[in-house]
Order: sequence, then C-alpha cells, then structure tokens
Amino acid sequence: MGQVRIRMIEEKDIPFVQEYVSKEKIADTTNVPHPYPKYGARLWYKIVKAKREKGNLYPFAILYDEEFAGSISVRKEDEGTGAIDYWVAPNFWNKGIGTKAVHKAIDFGIEELKFKKFETCCLVDNPSSGRVLEKNGFKFVKEFQIKNNNKHEGKIANLYRLEI
Ligand SMILES: CC(C)(COP(=O)(O)OP(=O)(O)OC[C@H]1O[C@@H](n2cnc3c(N)ncnc32)[C@H](O)[C@@H]1OP(=O)(O)O)[C@@H](O)C(=O)NCCC(=O)NCCS
Repeated sequence: MGQVRIRMIEEKDIPFVQEYVSKEKIADTTNVPHPYPKYGARLWYKIVKAKREKGNLYPFAILYDEEFAGSISVRKEDEGTGAIDYWVAPNFWNKGIGTKAVHKAIDFGIEELKFKKFETCCLVDNPSSGRVLEKNGFKFVKEFQIKNNNKHEGKIANLYRLEI
C-alpha cells in the first residue's frame, strides 16, 4: 500500500480533474454532468476557490504516492455538521485510497472546523462508497428517494451519519 495524503486543490490539478471526472465511472454515481463540459474543471476550480475563501467548502486533492488520484471536499452543512464529497480515479480503485482520504478529510473537519457530526449520502447502487463510509465509522441512518431537479431524481440513496 502506497501513501495517501490530501492537500488543498491547486490550479495544476485542473487537467487531472478534467480527465477523470469526464469518465462515466465517476459521473454514474455522483452529480458530475456527463458528458462533462470541455472547460468544466476550470470552472469548478473557480467555484470551489470562491467557496473556500468564504469558508463554506474545503476542496482537496487526493495524492497516492504523490500522484493525483482523486478529490475530496469537506462542506459545511449546519453549525457543527459537515458533509464530504469524494471520488477516486478508476485506475486507483480498491487500493484503500478512498477510505484513507475520507479518514483524513474527517480529521480536518474535526480539528480545523470543529465539526461534531458528519452526514453524507450515496446511491444504494454504490456499495463501494457505502463501504468506505462504514470503514470510517459512519452508521446507516435511512434510505430515501432523491428529489426532483437532481441528476439522480427518483433513485434510492442511503444517508450515513458519523457522530464524534
Ligand atoms: C467510492 C470510491 C470513492 C471508493 O474508492 P476506493 O479508493 O476504491 O475505496 P477503497 O479501496 O478504500 O474501499 C472500497 C471498498 O468497497 C468494496 N467494494 C468495491 N466494489 C464493491 C461492490 N461492487 N460491492 C461491495 N463492495 C465493493 C471494496 O472491496 C472495499 O472494501 P474492503 O476494503 O472492505 O474490501 C470510488 O469507487 C469512486 O470514486 N467511485 C465513483 C465516485 C463516487 O461514487 N463517489 C462517491 C459518491 S457518494
């Protein structure tokens, strides 16, 4: 097992984000549009940078032996509650990278943002993500149907919660 670390997203990550999130395997289980727009990652970078400056979102690159392997963001939901969004590039799947990245993002949320609770959802048809959450101590809360105006409208998702 190589080394996993997370660091704030940087401009140099844009080409990797563009390449990887364009893949169907990432779009299928996230809110990423497919086909992904040509300058999508550049626009995403601008948006998350602005949110980070406001303290609403902390976007990280996931590095595996210093190679870009994905992204994870820590988001403020309510006072004391955080959420995480993440993806790992398909060629890096099933090496434990997602699990370690989630662990590090939660540590950041607890230490830097003083979160006491995390809530995150994933599609029922995404057992790999559910497993990553469970391996980090998240507990299944409930199943729900995704509402209108969402890419996955009508599909069933699981809500997971971690209380510190
Ligand atoms: C979900 C995701 C981040 C997991 O990343 P990863 O680096 O492969 O995760 P890990 O290797 O740490 O753990 C994956 C776990 O899922 C398990 N798994 C993989 N495929 C599975 C399947 N079809 N059914 C059940 N478990 C599965 C693995 O065996 C592993 O569990 P284990 O350690 O107990 O064996 C990655 O698949 C991904 O980016 N998917 C697309 C984007 C996405 O869905 N993001 C999350 C949105 S909620």
